[in-house]
Amino acid sequence: MKKDQWILGIETSCDETAVAIIKNGREIAANIVASQIESHKRFGGVVPEIASRHHVEQITIVLEEALGQANLSFKDIDAIAVTEGPGLVGALLIGVNAAKALAFAHNLPLVPVHHIAGHIYANCLVTEMKFPLLALVVSGGHTELVYMKEHGHFEVIGETRDDAAGEAYDKVARTLNLPYPGGPHIDRLAHEGSPTINLPRAWLEEGSYDFSFSGLKSAVINTVHNAEQRGETITPEDLAASFQESVIDVLVKKTEKAASEYNVKQVLLAGGVAANKGLRSALEKVFSHYPEIELVVPPISLCTDNAAMIAAAGSIMFEKGVRAELSLNAIPGLEIELYND
Ligand code: KG4
Ligand code: ZN
Repeated sequence: MKKDQWILGIETSCDETAVAIIKNGREIAANIVASQIESHKRFGGVVPEIASRHHVEQITIVLEEALGQANLSFKDIDAIAVTEGPGLVGALLIGVNAAKALAFAHNLPLVPVHHIAGHIYANCLVTEMKFPLLALVVSGGHTELVYMKEHGHFEVIGETRDDAAGEAYDKVARTLNLPYPGGPHIDRLAHEGSPTINLPRAWLEEGSYDFSFSGLKSAVINTVHNAEQRGETITPEDLAASFQESVIDVLVKKTEKAASEYNVKQVLLAGGVAANKGLRSALEKVFSHYPEIELVVPPISLCTDNAAMIAAAGSIMFEKGVRAELSLNAIPGLEIELYND
């Protein structure tokens, strides 16, 4: 009988210190996330220096908690997977150095993982991936359509030319005086209002799978300022509903078109904005008309940053023979296509 494979994953690219242990690439044995949201909230966004300090404080605690939850010790672990980028350099470095120290001390292979590959691979903790597939990656830092013909091969067919979807959510939330991160608050308000305010949708040139959200963000900010100057009141629920409808409309239509054009078997949703209830139900509605395409939507706990997704991607990369030297460095602007053979 084949021995079980245990991968320990570490994620520190932004404001979550996370460690997870995954069995045979599919089963979560431990998944610990220490969120720093409370510390960053009063600044209205992530403060990189504070993020790094929290990672330093939390990493060993989270690591011990994960081993305890899985009831394992390092002699059971087959490899250490770690996010090498993209992300905040000071934050990434804490995870990368912890992973290097563990790999050296316990003589274990070190597997470098791209953060977005991790978000995509959160889906293999839900169901088996079927190729070719299309992933809609929507997070605080990224908005991308990624085509995969096989495991570990990534082709970015469209990406944002300015703000990421999550970034637009957070900025619009700030304009409405909602706390950071704003995505979940806008999502909640949107369900209490109606999309009565006319806002733009950036379709870009015919055939492009790229996105742009900065025009929409500015339109929301202008709408609020103009109303204030005229002494009018805007219903925040209606503004949230109108903004959310604009974002979802573009994301869903471009995903639908790309899925048909590329003849994919699966469409995977990934990233923090994948937690959005409006986006999840709009995708479910559209893809119910395509019985040949399976839509996979991860549970909310696997959408926002976590290390289970890093260990899951790490497991595939480990099997493919991807290894890092102990000279591994954090790469804040790392490109996902560098992983292709
Ligand atoms: O993937 P993630 O945890 O971190 C990055 O890699 O960026 O994504 C965080 C982003 C934030 O912008 C947050 O506002 C957004 O995901 N988000 C949401 C929702 N939950 C989190 N956006 C819209 N609706 C939500 N329910
Ligand atoms: Zn992320």
